[in-house]
Amino acid sequence: MQPFDIHIPTRIFFGTQKADVFAEALAGLGRHAFVVLGGGSVEKLGFYSQVTDLLDRKNIRHTTFRGIEPNPHAGTVNKAARLGKDAGVDFVLAFGGGSVMDASKAIAGLIHEDEEDIWPYVLGGAKHNTMAGALPVATIPTTAATASEVTMHAIISKPDVQGKAPVSYPFLKPAVSWLNPAFHTSLPLETTRDGASDILSHIFENYLLGGNDSPLADRYSEGVMETVMTTLPLVEKDPGNENLRGDLLWASTMALLGLQQSGRTPAPFRMHNLEHALSGYNPDLAHGRGLATIYPAYFRWLNREGRLQDRLAQLGHRLFDIAPSGDRETDALSFITAFEQWLRDNGLYQPLSDVGVPEKAFGGIADYALETYGDGQQLDVDGPLTRDGIIEIFEMTEMQG
Ligand code: NZQ
Ligand code: ZN
Repeated sequence: MQPFDIHIPTRIFFGTQKADVFAEALAGLGRHAFVVLGGGSVEKLGFYSQVTDLLDRKNIRHTTFRGIEPNPHAGTVNKAARLGKDAGVDFVLAFGGGSVMDASKAIAGLIHEDEEDIWPYVLGGAKHNTMAGALPVATIPTTAATASEVTMHAIISKPDVQGKAPVSYPFLKPAVSWLNPAFHTSLPLETTRDGASDILSHIFENYLLGGNDSPLADRYSEGVMETVMTTLPLVEKDPGNENLRGDLLWASTMALLGLQQSGRTPAPFRMHNLEHALSGYNPDLAHGRGLATIYPAYFRWLNREGRLQDRLAQLGHRLFDIAPSGDRETDALSFITAFEQWLRDNGLYQPLSDVGVPEKAFGGIADYALETYGDGQQLDVDGPLTRDGIIEIFEMTEMQG
């Protein structure tokens, strides 16, 4: 086991029945909530009024901002923060997917700092690492995907410069989150699939690059993966099933709660670095879809380079019951092939050119990833990943479909 410290400050409520205690906890955060919403789904589905009723019952005033877009834009965050500041809100309640939760964290920070623009605060920006605090944040996630309901990250996009990068501070971790599977039963299939891919990728990032010092973290991670891989096909057949939705939702939180890497070397999130560069280039690309597209190619690239084959082979053995052959490369390839089949069966296997990223853009996207997340020359994936390597991985996706 490697030494570690984990701080999980978020009070998590799970289940429809937890509405009242959640509202009670919100009352402890302040008297005026800034409710932040996405593009309208939670209002159309009738969920918004359920939440404002809860606030009313606890005599919590509320001001609402509507219109956070997927891959939330810095400009929208800035606009919302101005509105919240003028209204005198004292905490932020995010009600939506990862984009709404991330935007809410950024808004909470911007109001606290009494600043106008979030973009200088992202990784690589002039004010990176200078944020001093944030208003308290509460969340109600409506996707099973990002785990933003427990993480310290807010990932913000700026379409005019094709940028996408994180603002990350421990004080951005939500104080309270309510995981209510009833808000998930109407989630479109495509978004459900994208979310499942994101959950798996959070586990992969830690599992592959974190080393093998924690057998318990391995088993925990495999349990989350197993749950996602068996539950997604069941949800596709029975999308309104709250139990199944709840399984995916809790898996999404557990995938990035911190426990998944306990006792391992903390791993850099390399495929996330590349994916953020991809959805920075194309803001219509869903994060989970981008990840599903590059993962199989990344696995194949690693195996070709002779890297992390033990970890890939272990996944094959544990997740797909593949008996070890005695040859690491063969075993790693057996896992990759089985995983690709799972992606294909679940509508998640395609080339980058099918998700709005043409080959002519690969070089520029690699440059952005290296500048923002590397040292300009390389990223580290158990050895260097240079511009050529990134482009190779992107090109290898073109064999998928
Ligand atoms: O905007 P609305 O109308 O709500 O529609 C959304 C959006 O179009 C829709 N949706 C959400 N809940 C729904 C629903 N539609 C029907 N019923 C519901 N219950 O789903 C669409 C996608 O929403 P979005 O929030 O963009 O998806 P997701 O949850 O996957 O979040 C993606 C964002 O989170 C970031 C990603 O980079 C991306 O920007 N991430 C944040 C992380 C973090 N904070 O720790 C970690 C992740 O790795 C990730 O990077
Ligand atoms: Zn992710």
